[in-house]
Amino acid sequence: MNSRAVDHVETVLRSQGEESETKLIHVARNSLGDLRQRLDQQSHRFALVSVTQLTRDASARPNIPADLNRIKPPPKPPIFHGREDLVQTIVDLLLKDETCRVPLLGAGGIGKTALVTTILNDERVKKKFGENVFFLSCESLVSASGIILALASALGLQQDAGARQAVIHYFSSFKYVLLALDNFETTWDSDDRAEVEALLAELAAVSPQSLFVTMRGALRPAGVDWTDCILDTLDPLSLDAARRMWMRIAKKVDSKLDDLLRLLDGLPLAIMLMAQQGQVLSSSELLTAYTEERTSLLSQGAAGRLTSLEVSIELSLNSRTMQAEPNARKLLSVLCLLPDGIPMLQLNHMLPSMPHAGRSVRVLLHAALAVNKAGRISTLSPIREFMLQKYPPEDADVADTRAHFTGLPQLMDRLNGPKTEALDILLAEFGNMNTVFLHFWRDSPGPDAVEGLLEATLNLAQFSVLTGCGDCMLLLRTASISLDGTGNRQGAAQCLQSMGNALPVLKNRYSEAMEKLEEAKATFEAIGNRWGAAECTQRMGDVLRMQNRYEEAMEKLEEAKATFESIGNREGVAQCVRRMGDVLYMWSRYEEATEKFEEAKVAFQAIGSHGQVALCCKVLAEVFMAQHKTAQAQSLLHQAIDIFTSIGLLEEVHYCRSLWDELQGPRGLWAPARRLFRRLRGRPHS
Ligand SMILES: Nc1ncnc2c1ncn2[C@@H]1O[C@H](COP(=O)(O)OP(=O)(O)O)[C@@H](O)[C@H]1O
Ligand SMILES: [Mg+2]
Repeated sequence: MNSRAVDHVETVLRSQGEESETKLIHVARNSLGDLRQRLDQQSHRFALVSVTQLTRDASARPNIPADLNRIKPPPKPPIFHGREDLVQTIVDLLLKDETCRVPLLGAGGIGKTALVTTILNDERVKKKFGENVFFLSCESLVSASGIILALASALGLQQDAGARQAVIHYFSSFKYVLLALDNFETTWDSDDRAEVEALLAELAAVSPQSLFVTMRGALRPAGVDWTDCILDTLDPLSLDAARRMWMRIAKKVDSKLDDLLRLLDGLPLAIMLMAQQGQVLSSSELLTAYTEERTSLLSQGAAGRLTSLEVSIELSLNSRTMQAEPNARKLLSVLCLLPDGIPMLQLNHMLPSMPHAGRSVRVLLHAALAVNKAGRISTLSPIREFMLQKYPPEDADVADTRAHFTGLPQLMDRLNGPKTEALDILLAEFGNMNTVFLHFWRDSPGPDAVEGLLEATLNLAQFSVLTGCGDCMLLLRTASISLDGTGNRQGAAQCLQSMGNALPVLKNRYSEAMEKLEEAKATFEAIGNRWGAAECTQRMGDVLRMQNRYEEAMEKLEEAKATFESIGNREGVAQCVRRMGDVLYMWSRYEEATEKFEEAKVAFQAIGSHGQVALCCKVLAEVFMAQHKTAQAQSLLHQAIDIFTSIGLLEEVHYCRSLWDELQGPRGLWAPARRLFRRLRGRPHS
């Protein structure tokens, strides 16, 4: 808006052309008065925004506690029949001294997940691997980084560009480790396949680690020396195993059961869906219903070979309980948009236009079309795929779901403080948001929706950078393409800018980040958004600093500062000066760094940006500590602690207190080493 105001003055001045000087001065004075008023409003806004911004600055990452529960294996399936030999073979392999790498392949619903969880819960396996058995569902992960970040965040490891090394190092540190990557096809089928295979090869090469990958289909990922004995797709269940499975669920048997089971091709998911109905219907009734359903599907033009799973799902959808509660099918269709499911307690809030959602959930659970995992209701991926193809959610439900999820990133404004409910929600819903937004962009959102969706997308991307909880690259790329296609160059450039912000932090990809920022900057310049252009230049300075290219970094920051100055953006100027201080500090040019931080501090003071003033005090204290200037350091820490306390940034208060303790304690090797480590990681403020 500042740049718009200045541009307005320029336009007015130019439009006067050869007019008399008096008129020109008069008009210019009015316009400048207008400009001053707008700038005043803006600086007030900046003062407010800067504190919020501070919480979004990579310098103030929310502290994400490790949560091993996210990668602990699910309990073993309560019902599991057949495959005794296969389980024995794999367990024997695992118990050997050498590591094994097993791909479990086959159609959706054939029982890959059930098999792997049975093995991971085997007593002999548990005895050997102890706590070091990890299970990651890849259903909402669309890149290699997504896998790494999910592991790193659950394990409480570093969640930035160093995450990959940290994860590999973590797994290497045990005598025995077992890692299972479930639904790996989602990640493997993404644009990122080469990277995903490279990561898998790296994980497979970790010496003490055995690896399982479950994947839909018959193809194994390349690059891994898979253990020879189990390379084929999983066999269907034998008739005997299918019968036992049926008995456990339906609890009754009759003469037609075998005929029915033969139709189900030994596919456990199909058997389970039918057995659920077998509780109320006889096998003969189901057999007739199955044949009718199949014929009816074929007459409706069902393409290709109709699988037993497709017929079984249809039958379940048409069952009496499902028919009695029409909203249940609607709800199932909505669930299919959400790979991570929904907390039951959120249902009414999320789908206000769907009455009796609780009743629908019960019906879906009863028909075994949905499962309840720790209070979240979700559906298995083969069912999800079928539904999305055949019964996609209705427009109104899609709209409700999108509205709910596009609203969630606003919770970022509530991330202040140590551990908040907002943080828990954002972490739990990250995969869903990523997926919902991705579909939304692919669906060519209308002009009314674009603004909100873009804001949510950018916020989510920023959250992923702050927390390292996941990867938004595909989302940003898709959004940028969609926006470009509709001529929204500003939006497209914002997405590129966001990619440029994230790439160095999450992926260590500096040159790619520079390219994106250059491209975004060029677009911002072309459409006259100098503020955006200056932000990109500033970020390029950061990226160069991260690569220890200090001279070039200073040049970029000077350039950005000049642009911010020319559009009167005092916040931007102060940020550039502070960043120059960062560069000089890392360059060990302490006196010049001190000057820059002092200058930035004054500039932030002038615009009332208290949090930033405190950050300057903190880093100045560090610079003084590096030079053993204890008294100055103490005084600045005092100031920083006072301000951080007054604005409630308790994490920062703790950090400053720890610096204070370092100053009091014996000057051992540890404290300077820690600071050096922080600097090498390129985040002098964190
Ligand atoms: N051997 C088995 N015995 C009994 N039920 C099984 C068996 N294998 C799978 N199931 C059940 O069938 C359904 C689909 O199995 P799942 O492992 O999710 O398939 P996949 O992972 O191959 O898509 C699940 O409800 C599961 O509990
Ligand atoms: Mg599975």
